[in-house]
Amino acid sequence: MNAKGVPIAVINPDAPVESLEAKQPEVDNGVEIAGKEGYFSRDYMQREWDRLWTRSWLIAGVESDIPEVGDFFLFNIRDESIIVTRTEEGIKAFYNVCSHRGARLVWDDRGNRKVFVCPFHSWSFHNDGRLRRITDEEYFKPEVVAHRPGLKPVHCDTLAGIVFINMDDAPEQPLKEAIGLPDGYLEAYRIADMRVARHVRSEWGANWKVGVEAFYESYHLHAVHPETRGVMGDLNVQYDLYPNGASRMIVPLGQPSPRMHDQATVNEGLKMMLEDAGLDSSGFTGTAADVRRAIQQGKRQRAERLGLDYSRFVDGQLSDSWATGIFPNVQIGCHPEAVFLMRFLPHETDPERFYYDTMTLIFPVEDGSYRPPAWMGLPEGTDTTGRVRPATEHYSIEEDPNLGLVLSQDSALLPVVQQGMRSRGFEGQLWSEQEQRLRHFHVELERRLAR
Ligand code: FES
Ligand SMILES: [Fe+2]
Repeated sequence: MNAKGVPIAVINPDAPVESLEAKQPEVDNGVEIAGKEGYFSRDYMQREWDRLWTRSWLIAGVESDIPEVGDFFLFNIRDESIIVTRTEEGIKAFYNVCSHRGARLVWDDRGNRKVFVCPFHSWSFHNDGRLRRITDEEYFKPEVVAHRPGLKPVHCDTLAGIVFINMDDAPEQPLKEAIGLPDGYLEAYRIADMRVARHVRSEWGANWKVGVEAFYESYHLHAVHPETRGVMGDLNVQYDLYPNGASRMIVPLGQPSPRMHDQATVNEGLKMMLEDAGLDSSGFTGTAADVRRAIQQGKRQRAERLGLDYSRFVDGQLSDSWATGIFPNVQIGCHPEAVFLMRFLPHETDPERFYYDTMTLIFPVEDGSYRPPAWMGLPEGTDTTGRVRPATEHYSIEEDPNLGLVLSQDSALLPVVQQGMRSRGFEGQLWSEQEQRLRHFHVELERRLAR
């Protein structure tokens, strides 16, 4: 119970404390009202660049995008561009800039190169960053190039199939500590064995934090996404706070919202979820209250049939959405069959815009025997074989990125929030306990900016 006698939602009261499903101890982050300058001010944006973005572990991409030696992808954030590449000695990262006169080396989102050749005077570099050849080297005084200027490295590490970079010369913590999540949390999903099925980078009209905040709570579901009411237990959400700004919410799926009057009818949305789990919804004899459990059991049975291994997951993981936040700018929707990785990336110059970068990763399926849940919104006809890495789709602020109904509702709403917050009449956000992840995020943000 909280102070007002409202029960704190716990997904599984029987979960052992060491279980990843267990409710984490409460964290007291106070009741202060955060200022709103950070959503508009260019000074604040610069402070974030100097103290947050250039000094934090950031998700640059996924390992499965660079399986072969020579494979690379670019991670672009504000005016930095970083090459992440697989070398003979493992994955490394370098600033995407020539050591001669600073030209960008690579413009493609990804590719395979053993050697990077500069477009300006054709110096070349091995993909492990070593200088390979200086054009007309005999015209240089030896002292100028005696240090054999290679590509400048960026700290790079991997965790659970995800590649992180850190631009800090001496990162505050190693990645494994900085991440804040318990050991094995992300590893369970075997993201390294998944493949990107869709990658979309679209521009939205709000500060990047407005984006993070909207995806860190289920409080707005009833108002902004009313169609989720039939299938998401938006008031039964378990919120958990972890060290270093990390957090998650477990949203039970396959049950009507407690806000709904009708708690019995197996509505169309619930039927769709039963079908997604490989069950025949027309033959289902239970009520709405039985659907979540049926999804869990259905998936276990299907897993046996298809030779999938779900033994590492608790029942709740088979039905629910474990929306997991990694500070500062990531949320991963974790599901046994697929993960939805979203990054909120700051705009180059405008504090009132950001890039919403989403990757849907799935286990490749040759025969179409199952698909990622329909509500994940992969467009009809998406290749699920994992054989071809689809190109990143880039959308400007005017274009429709075709992200499905729920996300288009969010992209329409966020500018409304951004504009409203600008008003002299607005004095700062008032967070409820359904928004405790937002407060947790801001406490960590302020700590980093004060360094
Ligand atoms: S700037 Fe790259 S070779 Fe001159
Ligand atoms: Fe939303």
